[in-house]
Amino acid sequence: MLLEVSQLTKTFGGFTAVNRVSFGVAEGEILGLIGPNGSGKSTTFGLIAGALAPTAGSIRFRAEEIGGLPAYRVAHRGIARTYQIPRPFRKLSLLENVALAAYYGSNEHLSREKAFALAEDCLKLVNLHESAVDRLGAAGLKKLELARALATQPKLLLADESLGGLDHAEMEQAADMLADIRAKRGITIVWVEHIMGVLMRVVDRCVVLDHGEVIAQGAPAAVSQDPKVVEVYLGTDAFA
Ligand SMILES: Nc1ncnc2c1ncn2[C@@H]1O[C@H](COP(=O)(O)OP(=O)(O)O)[C@@H](O)[C@H]1O
Ligand SMILES: [Mg+2]
Repeated sequence: MLLEVSQLTKTFGGFTAVNRVSFGVAEGEILGLIGPNGSGKSTTFGLIAGALAPTAGSIRFRAEEIGGLPAYRVAHRGIARTYQIPRPFRKLSLLENVALAAYYGSNEHLSREKAFALAEDCLKLVNLHESAVDRLGAAGLKKLELARALATQPKLLLADESLGGLDHAEMEQAADMLADIRAKRGITIVWVEHIMGVLMRVVDRCVVLDHGEVIAQGAPAAVSQDPKVVEVYLGTDAFA
């Protein structure tokens, strides 16, 4: 397993947001981490990425414990994340935004030229062409976010709610793009979504959270028919 999360727990005051969560991610896999709003998905990402320290449990990446390491050290070990709400530098060009990520996020010490070359490469991979950051719509901002994460040359990409604010065609494109990134770069991906439909087409496996606990995991077809999962999603548009 590239990533092994075991009995991971996070409490905020008296509230348990993530409760004894365990799952593994194999090298080269696309894993879907799904669950309704507030089920603990982003908190789980924050714990893996080093934005939050676990209350209990372990997170092993390439057989080494990373739980509680600061975010920059987790990044240098090869884990990149995208944020649900993109926050690019609006005064910089797209290329500069991505080059900065390459320069500061990569484990290697890159020259300016290399950082820019890598940035160009990543913008191509997400099919984004030079324009002003302010002119990007929701789909463009998500692509920029993805390009910045890829520019750090990760082994594992944590993509948070990459579909939020997208229309159906854009969601399909985003799903294809993640599949393409895995195929072309061999990057392992954990993809967080609360919508199941589009995600189910490209993930190898999924883990379902509800109230901070894993309620099901396995192949998409089996998981989407699991009575516990159906119950959690009943009456929502999440299968759309
Ligand atoms: N820093 C925090 N302090 C207190 N509660 C938090 C904090 N972060 C998240 N939570 C709570 O933890 C739960 C899980 O949140 P989150 O992981 O963001 O859910 P998801 O990403 O699945 O929608 C929610 O009830 C949320 O309000
Ligand atoms: Mg979230």
